[in-house]
Amino acid sequence: MFQILTVLLLELQLSVGSALFTVEVPQQLYIVEYGSNVTMECRFPVNGSLNLGLLTVVWEQKGQSQSKSKEVYTLRNGKAFPPSQHQDYIGRAALLHSELKLGRAILQITSVKITDAGSYLCLIDYQGVDYKYITLEVKAPYKKINTQVMRKPGEDKFVFMCQSEGFPLAEVFWQNAKNFNLSGSVNTTYTLTADGLYNVTSMLTFKPNMSENCSCVFWNKELNGETSAHISTLALMSTPYSGQKSLILFIIPTCVMVAVLPSALIIFQKRKSFKNGQSKKDKKRKLNPNLKDENRDDFNSQTEALYLSTVTTSRDNGSVGL
Ligand SMILES: *[C@@H]1O[C@H](CO)[C@@H](O)[C@H](O)[C@H]1NC(C)=O
Ligand SMILES: *[C@@H]1O[C@H](CO)[C@@H](O)[C@H](O)[C@H]1NC(C)=O
Ligand SMILES: *[C@@H]1O[C@H](CO)[C@@H](O)[C@H](O)[C@H]1NC(C)=O
Ligand SMILES: *[C@@H]1O[C@H](CO)[C@@H](O)[C@H](O)[C@H]1NC(C)=O
Ligand SMILES: *[C@@H]1O[C@H](CO)[C@@H](O)[C@H](O)[C@H]1NC(C)=O
Ligand SMILES: *[C@@H]1O[C@H](CO)[C@@H](O)[C@H](O)[C@H]1NC(C)=O
Repeated sequence: MFQILTVLLLELQLSVGSALFTVEVPQQLYIVEYGSNVTMECRFPVNGSLNLGLLTVVWEQKGQSQSKSKEVYTLRNGKAFPPSQHQDYIGRAALLHSELKLGRAILQITSVKITDAGSYLCLIDYQGVDYKYITLEVKAPYKKINTQVMRKPGEDKFVFMCQSEGFPLAEVFWQNAKNFNLSGSVNTTYTLTADGLYNVTSMLTFKPNMSENCSCVFWNKELNGETSAHISTLALMSTPYSGQKSLILFIIPTCVMVAVLPSALIIFQKRKSFKNGQSKKDKKRKLNPNLKDENRDDFNSQTEALYLSTVTTSRDNGSVGL
């Protein structure tokens, strides 16, 4: 279990030292969301002002599948002792020093990971030694569900896809508007991400005569709830593509418009000033007819027309995408 050395040291000191010294935990179980911050607290008796030089606090963690415990944070004789800290906790674990004088050894872990879950030992040595265990559970609800509608290549079938990440593993149900479970061809698979989350993908294959909307429901008992995404069959009538593509259809024309509008404006301004100078040029032309000048004039109006038509097309595309 936890490092044998610390336990041996502890038992030695317990038999010799004060039996009155006890560590207490106001909360034994912490349940937090993946990515959030957590503070876990152990209390120890401080009589009057704290003598920091006499204080040693050790926080260790042991996950379910680990054989060895990890050192999360160590304060030795009042000073942080980083060399022994496990690499998983570097930069993420801290002891709230201002709370120590109140007899509170509060460990803070930021951006909690799935692998942070487990049993935490807090051992405190302050003219006496004691320790307690605290349990940390980490959950990641399937918050954001990505949906996609695809046409099965070469077949008269469509595929609805829902994909999301979370922890622990969720089941996926498909329902229609009347909340009946949809049978048929459902294929749910998952992979593990580098962060230890489940990446769950569920696909419903169906014939296009299905006239009802349906939703995919990600459910896990431990997450104490479900999340769902709604897919409208209307999407099939208008376009067999995914929502992402229509977003691209909208973004690209918008970028084109942003790029084109200023140049169109500049050309418009140039044309304006050109027209102002027209009478002078006409005079010049009469005296010395210049082919080059006329060509340039033609070119300018052509480009302008081209730009204007681009702008119009972009607007059309944009509204389609919307
Ligand atoms: C977690 O703590 C860090 C550092 O103290 C802070 O920057 C961040 O905003 C906190 N995050 C949340 C979700 O509270
Ligand atoms: C606290 O400290 C005072 C003097 O510093 C001492 O008289 C008293 O017995 C101590 N109490 C406990 C519970 O240790
Ligand atoms: C489900 O999908 C996976 C990957 O897309 C594929 O390898 C597997 O054969 C499918 N299973 C069924 C029963 O269709
Ligand atoms: C989850 O899986 C999908 C394909 O099933 C993949 O496109 C996506 O990048 C994966 N996400 C992560 C975070 O691994
Ligand atoms: C197609 O429509 C018929 C009649 O409404 C229905 O009985 C059948 O289940 C539908 N097929 C699918 C795949 O939804
Ligand atoms: C499906 O959803 C769309 C938009 O969410 C809605 O307009 C339509 O009435 C729904 N159709 C059915 C059969 O519920």
